[in-house]
Amino acid sequence: MQSPDRNRQGIDHDPFWYKSGVIYEVHVRAFYDSNADGTGDFRGLTEKLDYIKDLGATAIWLLPFYPSPLKDDGYDIADYCAVHPSYGTLADFKKFLREAHRRGLRVITELVLNHTSDQHPWFQRSRRAKPGSHWRNFYVWSKTAAEYHDARIIFKDVEQSNWAWDHVANAYYWHRFFSHQPDLNFESPAVHEAMFKVVDFWLDLGVDGLRLDAVPYLYEREGTNCENLPETHAFLKRLRQHVDENYGDRMLLGEANQWPEDAVAYFGQGRGDECHMAFHFPLMPRLFMAVRMEDRQPIVDILEQTPPIPETSQWALFLRNHDELTLEMVTDEERDYMYRMYAHVEQARLNLGIRRRLAPLMNNDRKSIELLNALLFSLPGTPVLYYGDEIGLGENIFLGDRNGVRTPMQWSSDKNAGFSRANPQSLYLPIILDPGYHYEANNVEVQLANPHSLLWWMRRLLALRKRWRALGEGKCEFLQTGNRKILSYILRYETETLLVVANLSRFPQPVELDLSAFQHAAPIELFGRTEFPVISDGPYFLSLGPHSFYWFSLEPKFARGQVQPSANGQATLPTLALAHDWHEILAEKNKFGMKEILPDYLRAQTWFKGKSRSVKFLTIKEDIPVNLAGGADARLAFLQVDYVDGDSEMYSLPLAFACGAEADGLRQHSPERIIAELNLASPAQSGILYDAFSSPDFCAALLEMLWRPRRVKASQGEIEAVRLPELRRIIGESSPPKPSKARNEQSNSSVIFEDKLMLKLFRRLEPGLNPELEVGRFLNSHSFPHCQTVVGGLEYVGNADSRFTLAVVHAFIPSATTAWISHSTPSAVTTTASSHGSPRGNRPRCRFPNRSNFSSRTFRPRSLRPSARILNRRGFWEFALPNCTGFWRPTLSTSLSPRNPPHRTIGARCFNPCAIWPCKACDCCGSK
Ligand code: NOJ
Repeated sequence: MQSPDRNRQGIDHDPFWYKSGVIYEVHVRAFYDSNADGTGDFRGLTEKLDYIKDLGATAIWLLPFYPSPLKDDGYDIADYCAVHPSYGTLADFKKFLREAHRRGLRVITELVLNHTSDQHPWFQRSRRAKPGSHWRNFYVWSKTAAEYHDARIIFKDVEQSNWAWDHVANAYYWHRFFSHQPDLNFESPAVHEAMFKVVDFWLDLGVDGLRLDAVPYLYEREGTNCENLPETHAFLKRLRQHVDENYGDRMLLGEANQWPEDAVAYFGQGRGDECHMAFHFPLMPRLFMAVRMEDRQPIVDILEQTPPIPETSQWALFLRNHDELTLEMVTDEERDYMYRMYAHVEQARLNLGIRRRLAPLMNNDRKSIELLNALLFSLPGTPVLYYGDEIGLGENIFLGDRNGVRTPMQWSSDKNAGFSRANPQSLYLPIILDPGYHYEANNVEVQLANPHSLLWWMRRLLALRKRWRALGEGKCEFLQTGNRKILSYILRYETETLLVVANLSRFPQPVELDLSAFQHAAPIELFGRTEFPVISDGPYFLSLGPHSFYWFSLEPKFARGQVQPSANGQATLPTLALAHDWHEILAEKNKFGMKEILPDYLRAQTWFKGKSRSVKFLTIKEDIPVNLAGGADARLAFLQVDYVDGDSEMYSLPLAFACGAEADGLRQHSPERIIAELNLASPAQSGILYDAFSSPDFCAALLEMLWRPRRVKASQGEIEAVRLPELRRIIGESSPPKPSKARNEQSNSSVIFEDKLMLKLFRRLEPGLNPELEVGRFLNSHSFPHCQTVVGGLEYVGNADSRFTLAVVHAFIPSATTAWISHSTPSAVTTTASSHGSPRGNRPRCRFPNRSNFSSRTFRPRSLRPSARILNRRGFWEFALPNCTGFWRPTLSTSLSPRNPPHRTIGARCFNPCAIWPCKACDCCGSK
């Protein structure tokens, strides 16, 4: 056995990963064809992994991809430990797995325990072996076909019996599905052994989970329906033990199409020692029923009849999958109703079910599709999303068997929907051409281009699902309301309390909810973060549009946007629990903790512009490693802040960790720099996360990047140092100067290096080259003497060639004067200035005339009018000019957005410093 973790780099070892994820079900052959032979393959699927990741799925469930005659789409396996040549090679599979893991995506494969193909070498040996021999006993044989008549026929449209005659063996063999799929004989220990080898093969390769196909039918017993037998459960317990002992965090997902009390047994009766997960088959048709009946009762009834499951177990919930919408777990009346509502066309029916996809079942009604997904993603369980349903893929009920719901994924309006470059006639199944769902209009490319598309909506839904553990993992309590068209429930998970209210009707509905248990809480709508009226002790009234729903977080009013006061009235720092290392804050699963903490921290920062706006999302877009002297490290993170209204903003946030005496020092002297307490598994290593710009080592490391430029790689781009010749000219070849105390300013943070250099870290990051660097460079090249010399800067260049200026470095001019514009007229600008007294008594290089008594000063520029403000801070001149007709607006003020209009390259034609800044205005220029 290989080391279980060898092939799983990128995956954390959360043993309960299956409880909080989203599973994306896909068939290799249906996703993307990389070699233009008409069938999807592993290389194609690997190419599309980013799509699945960006959708927000956390695990991929692969339908069978093993060598097979493909008479049951691969569930008729001819070799358990290889890859069907149409889909690629085992090496391709391994590469796919590695790439999925690298993206943090887990992979679940099929373990078809119950049966093989009749082409499997085991069956070929068995049919030729002597009755009673080792090989003969691999399958279930009979001379009479008289046994087990109480077992139902599952594929009743094609099979008349569970026995089939084999002329080679001269005997009947048992099969619960197609007659070309003989059932393995679980009475034979050799079968167990063979299956354990298969399990080891895939788990050794690094597969994260196994779906146990058709698991209730492993054994046969006379006088029973041959389902859910105790022997089956005993086998599953052994299997689970084997997996737990040898592989730890892998998962078994049982496919047991059974009533809730029987399905629950697959978790292992109270102990959770069989499957980790099991599909909730009875809930699925009832979701459709409830929407069509406009009545919550089918859903409430089935979930109330569902026994509790062990703490470590989880339901797998789904709307549609690769099979027909099975109606085995409904009453006859309910089945009739479902057929009448959803399958009036004969071709849509198959066995005891309906072979249709989600969007056509909902007549492509966007609101109903959203509503069903809102239930799928909030009811207790892990949602399983069937590929294509996120774009409302259509169906073709005229294809045989269940092929109508297994057609190729639609990527674009190109040939074959962008799925394959092959001759359209050679595709494994035709593309959807139904005018309502035609691939030219309905495909990933079209939907990605439209932020209002179903695909984008699903992405948002999945993002929320990741953010709130109560969705899917919360304890669910249904709320009674007089209006049965409204389904409402509370979900509680640790500190999260969510309220779901869904209108199952196609008409608007009012509802009064008894939320008195949550008095004084404010319902915050999760998609828009809009605050609804605070809950009182009376009924809470809501009205809902047709098929609409709300997901609310019930939040104590005081807790929003504030650090919660502790019992003694002092602000308590937010705390994050981590396992071993502070870097885990940036691991995918902990980013949410960070996002919780950061809005409060941001609001307390002078440079954060969004204090009065409601933050909707916070996303850590990038984290750049910064190596500090002495081996410690820090990160320069980029935070994207999305607001309820208006444009998003991007901020830079330097992060570092301190523990022990260093942390105590920060707690005592710079509490405002602390972002959170980090509790690590070992208390001795716990400490604080703080804004690293307060650390001299961090500032020194930033200057070092300029001093000795080298490539600093980050996950999505790299830092590029802009080093101007002025740096060496002014500072010489000595070692870099040492930083003094850093300070936060109105919009940025800055640090002075031995009165020689000043580094300004831009907090708000805006795309493009910052004008301060651009203009500075230009002025240097024109030997302009009236402002501080720019010696360099740091830029971030993203993968998509996006560019941000992170920092600019100037020659430092000691001064202690600050001037602000107080009044501006069309022809003059008046400034007021205050002198703070220069600690070092240094004269500024550029200063106002008559410095001793100026409180106000009017400038009359020679030909152009300064428009916004003049800022003279510590001797650093900054100025802004109006939009000169047809010209670029030169500005050195970072407070003036260079975004609008977008800054252009400066040309001598439109920028003449001496024309703009008349020498009259200051007394440092000899040409008075
Ligand atoms: C269950 C699978 O979901 C279905 O597609 C297959 O036909 C049967 N098992 C038989 O293998």
